Amino acid sequence: MNSLATTAPAARTGTPLVEMRDIAISFGGIRAVDNVSVDLYPGEVVGLLGHNGAGKSTLIKILAGAYRQDSGEIRIGGQKAEIANPRDAKRLGIETIYQTLALADNVDAAANLFLGRELMTPWGTLDDVAMEAATREVMGRLNPNFRKFKEPVRGLSGGQRQSVAIARAIHFNAKILIMDEPTAALGPQETAQVGELIKQLKAEGIGIFLISHDIHDVFDLADRVSVMKNGKLVGSARTSDVTKDEVLGMIILGKCPPGATPGPGASL
Ligand SMILES: Nc1ncnc2c1ncn2[C@@H]1O[C@H](COP(=O)(O)OP(=O)(O)OP(=O)(O)O)[C@@H](O)[C@H]1O
Ligand SMILES: [Mg+2]
Repeated sequence: MNSLATTAPAARTGTPLVEMRDIAISFGGIRAVDNVSVDLYPGEVVGLLGHNGAGKSTLIKILAGAYRQDSGEIRIGGQKAEIANPRDAKRLGIETIYQTLALADNVDAAANLFLGRELMTPWGTLDDVAMEAATREVMGRLNPNFRKFKEPVRGLSGGQRQSVAIARAIHFNAKILIMDEPTAALGPQETAQVGELIKQLKAEGIGIFLISHDIHDVFDLADRVSVMKNGKLVGSARTSDVTKDEVLGMIILGKCPPGATPGPGASL
């Protein structure tokens, strides 16, 4: 993973792509997300860390339009945004890659890229030629060594499948990419491949929320981390200002080190 640490930190200037302010949601009696604020700038990777059940997935599902927050505000590109459903999120350039990649195993990369958004010819038939050409263009940017355009994606490696899922997101002009545990099911080589994809996306100015309960998956790739515990934000820090051990202390103990900005969930 160390080879991935060479990515230059993104400049946090201008308007943030995403500002989530004081977001809260409860399920029954459980406050799954409790007044959490996070933000994301263009070309930046923000790692969202915390134990199982900390509220990470719930927070980003609010951004992705899967849940509606009980309170709090979301701004996209500086504008207040109402994200009532996944369609609203996509319209705002927000795409999510869930751990279960939701690829259709029996069809090839192009069919997956355009699943549910197929290109048609003027005669009303599927425009396979245009879809394959677009797929080759976007995959060429992301993963130039990819050759398996004619194979059902069932036969692809975990890293290759990940690149198809990412290609699908960025072809449709994602500006904001949410990756929930993208390397959880991958081996070291495939994990490194996903790291390369993430660097490529950064270079294109895409902002990425990278979610994991394992600090090792994200620390070297992230420009900043935000740590959640029991639904609350422990704090946020630039990865250059804190050590891995300090971030572990945030995750496990809720303790905020000097290099981090504490949130409402920081223990004293
Ligand atoms: N749809 C739901 N209905 C009821 N409770 C939920 C729902 N979704 C999440 N929760 C609860 O909210 C809390 C936060 O869950 P969440 O999935 O956001 O955690 P997480 O940080 O993503 O954990 P993990 O690392 O295991 O993926 C948990 O207590 C969970 O049981
Ligand atoms: Mg989760």
